[in-house]
Parts: sequence; structure tokens; C-alpha cells
Amino acid sequence: MRARIIFVTTIKQLVLTVSVAALFALFTACGGGSAASPSAGTQAVSKAAVGEKIFFDTSLSEPAGMSCATCHDPARAFTDSHALAISMGVSEGVIPGLFGGRNTPTIVYHVLTPVFGFAEEGPYGGLFHDGRAATLADQAGGPPTNPVEMHNPDMASYVNKVKSAAYADDVKRVWGNDVFDNVTEAYKKITATVAEFEKTDKRFAPFTSKFDYWLAGKVKLTSEELNGLSLFNASDKGNCAACHPSIAPSSVTPPLFTDFTYDALGVPRNAAIPANADPNYFDLGLCGPARTDFSSPTLCGKFRVPTLRNVAITAPYFHNGKFSNLRDVVKFYVTRDINPELWYPLDGNGNVVKFDDLPAQYRINVNISEPPYNRRLGDLPAMTEVEIDHVVAFLNALTDGYVLP
Ligand code: HEC
Ligand code: HEC
Repeated sequence: MRARIIFVTTIKQLVLTVSVAALFALFTACGGGSAASPSAGTQAVSKAAVGEKIFFDTSLSEPAGMSCATCHDPARAFTDSHALAISMGVSEGVIPGLFGGRNTPTIVYHVLTPVFGFAEEGPYGGLFHDGRAATLADQAGGPPTNPVEMHNPDMASYVNKVKSAAYADDVKRVWGNDVFDNVTEAYKKITATVAEFEKTDKRFAPFTSKFDYWLAGKVKLTSEELNGLSLFNASDKGNCAACHPSIAPSSVTPPLFTDFTYDALGVPRNAAIPANADPNYFDLGLCGPARTDFSSPTLCGKFRVPTLRNVAITAPYFHNGKFSNLRDVVKFYVTRDINPELWYPLDGNGNVVKFDDLPAQYRINVNISEPPYNRRLGDLPAMTEVEIDHVVAFLNALTDGYVLP
């Protein structure tokens, strides 16, 4: 059981004002700060600025056409705008028709994700839906050579592309004239450059949603949004805050709407994912197949709790992109156990196959003890249709870039 979170507006407002300022000071401090090497000209250039160029450069895939931003579009909180359009729930690689098995997550606020570790309640933190990448640099090294993403045959092919890019001299200014001499070292440095962009650019930690301005006392939430927030927090209603906390985790960080823990929700299987054509293939999150370091059966089916900031503009949802509509996600939480036929297929005998994206032996890992999904067939739902609407209204107040009236 998770520690329940109590919502205290007054203290939080105070803390937040201080903390956003502190956080921005931190960003500015490391932002333009990378020392420039005297080689390749004398003009100073920051690692982050070069990292930004690499992040958006579509010439770095094989064939050309895909950059990090193809799947992580800044206009959609750095998620993939194509995944919905092609109705798959997952991203297509640079080779047409090749798809990964997972939904592209937002990478706004991921800079605040703690490194993977274990606490009393179990695992927490780490990058990717299963936490397998320890650092941003580790992560940034994945896509360039992933066959279903940027598809470079090897590190050398990627390094050579950066070496031929218009900004190659900037890479030298940052790392020295010999940066491209050793492929393995160069690859590490290039990925570290991208990570520096992700760590320091304000677009990755804006805290400019209506909710943030409300916390700062600059705007009012509507009665629907306020009620949605209460339902979101109430342990006998949405209980969302038990895993997606709406209060600040520390005096320097505003609310992140994730506690970075792992849970199995029993999300329905997404038949559109090519790998799922094999009925024996299952994405089990912490226990593989992408992750290979855990064999404990109790971890199977668990995925990291994602932030809900910007969630209104980051469809599709869940690790497998099964849901394309935010209201459906909330309705799924509320009705999974009382109307499972809305979400899961029937077997040959007409029985609903609950938690059909997990092999039978791991279905006991699915959380059935915490509201809103602690219900049994015949019980009343934890929230009414109107209450679901209000929670969705509140979630819509978490989109960054809110313009104050
Ligand atoms: C083809 C689409 C695609 C491309 C291109 C791509 N990504 Fe991703 N990204 C994903 C998917 C899918 C995941 C989740 C994978 C998983 O959980 O196994 C992800 C996860 C991430 C994460 C982890 C976020 C978190 O919250 O854990 C970061 C950071 C990231 N990508 C950055 C990048 C960078 C940097 C590049 C370019 C070097 C890049 N991505 C290129 C699809 C893509
Ligand atoms: C017991 C923990 C827990 C509770 C309670 C909980 N969630 Fe989640 N939530 C998760 C986990 C874990 C995931 C990721 C699951 C996956 O991808 O398989 C998730 C995913 C989501 C997503 C998808 C986000 C995305 O980017 O794909 C939304 C939206 C969401 N939750 C909203 C809510 C709302 C609203 C409530 C309350 C009605 C709630 N959650 C209650 C653990 C929880």
C-alpha cells in the first residue's frame, strides 16, 4: 500500500513559488555553461546548443528522414504525433512498416526522473517504461542504432553522419578536434551532447500549466477543474494521487504527477502492435523481454507510473498505446472491474478474458486493491460519468504553455 497523500494548498503554494525559481536558476546555471574547446575556431558554443541540433537533425537516420524529434515532437510535449494518425499506438521507424512495441512517452520532465533503484515498496525511477536506461546519455545511445527507430547499422555509421553535418565543427569546438577519431568514444560524446540539451533546455521543465499558475495564485480553476482535482486526490474516489501525486515532492520541485514507482494495471492487449501477432509474445515491463536483469515473477506486467503533465496532448496512452482518448483511460480505471466486457475480449465460452495482455500466471500481479479499481462485479463505480468528466477537465489544466487571461 502506498502512503496516502494529503493535499495542503497553503504550504504548497509557498513552496512552489520558491521552488520554480530555484529550479530555473539551476537550469540557467548549467544551461550555457559548457566550456568550449579552443579547437575548430574560437567561437564559444554550448554542448546543449549542439545537442539541440543533433536532436532535430533528420539526416542522422539510415536512410535520412528521422530525428529524435520525429517521435518526440515539441508541439505535443515531445511525443509522437504520427502514432495516433496511423492508429497503431506505437511509433513507426524510419523504415516504413517497422514498428516498435511501445508508445513513445513524453520526455518533458523526464530530466527529473530519479535513477532506477529499490525502495521498501519496490522498484522506482529509471528511464523507459521499464526503467532500464540509467541515464539520459545511456538512453540517447539507443535510438540511433535501433533497427525499428533510426536504423543505423552500427555506431560508425551514425558517427560519420554527425561528422558530415553542417554543425560538425561545433561538435569539435565542444569536444576537441579529435572527437571523431575513435568511434566508440565519439558515439558516447555525441549522446552526452544530446543528453545535455535534454537536461538544460527549459522546454523539458516548463511548469507553465494552468495548474501551476493556480498554485502560484495567478489564475482560478473552474468549478469542474477544482472538483476534478478533489476527486483525483480523494482516496475513496479517483485515488489518482496515490500514484500520480499532485503535491510537490520536495521544496525544490513542483508536483510531477508521478511517484516513479511501478504497477501492473492490466491494460488491454493492443492487437495493432506487430509483435502481438504472436499470441505467445508479451511485453512484461520490468521482467522483460526488453529488460533482462529481473526474473522475479512478482515484477511481471509492471510499468513505471508516467507523469500526467501535458497528458491531454500526448495521446495515445499507456505503455502499449492501447487508448487513444483520455476520457476512455479514466473510464477504464473506473469500470475495469465492474464492466470488464467494455475493455477485454471474450474467450470461446463467452467469458471475459480480463488482463489479456498478461500470461495467465502473472494476472495476479495486477493491482486490484486500490481504488478506483478495488471493485468486484456488481459493485458501484468509484466515480459517476460526471465525476469522470471533471477529472478529465482537471487533467486538461496540466498542459504547459497556458496563457494567463
Ligand atoms: C521511432 C520513434 C523514436 C525515436 C526516433 C526516438 N525515440 Fe525516444 N522513445 C521512443 C519510445 C517508443 C520510447 C519508450 C521505449 C521503451 O520504454 O522501451 C522512448 C523513450 C525515450 C526516453 C525515455 C523517457 C522516459 O520517460 O523514460 C527518452 C529520454 C528519449 N526517448 C529520448 C530520445 C532521443 C534523445 C532520441 C534521439 C537520439 C529519441 N528518443 C529517438 C521512441 C522514439
Ligand atoms: C496504483 C497506482 C495508480 C493509480 C491509483 C492510478 N494510476 Fe494512472 N497509471 C499508473 C501506471 C503504472 C500507469 C502506466 C501503466 C502502463 O503503461 O501500463 C498509469 C498511466 C496513466 C495514464 C496514461 C498516461 C500516459 O502518458 O500514457 C493516465 C492518463 C493515468 N494513469 C491517469 C490516472 C488517473 C486519472 C487516475 C485516477 C482515476 C490514475 N491514473 C490512478 C498507476 C496508477
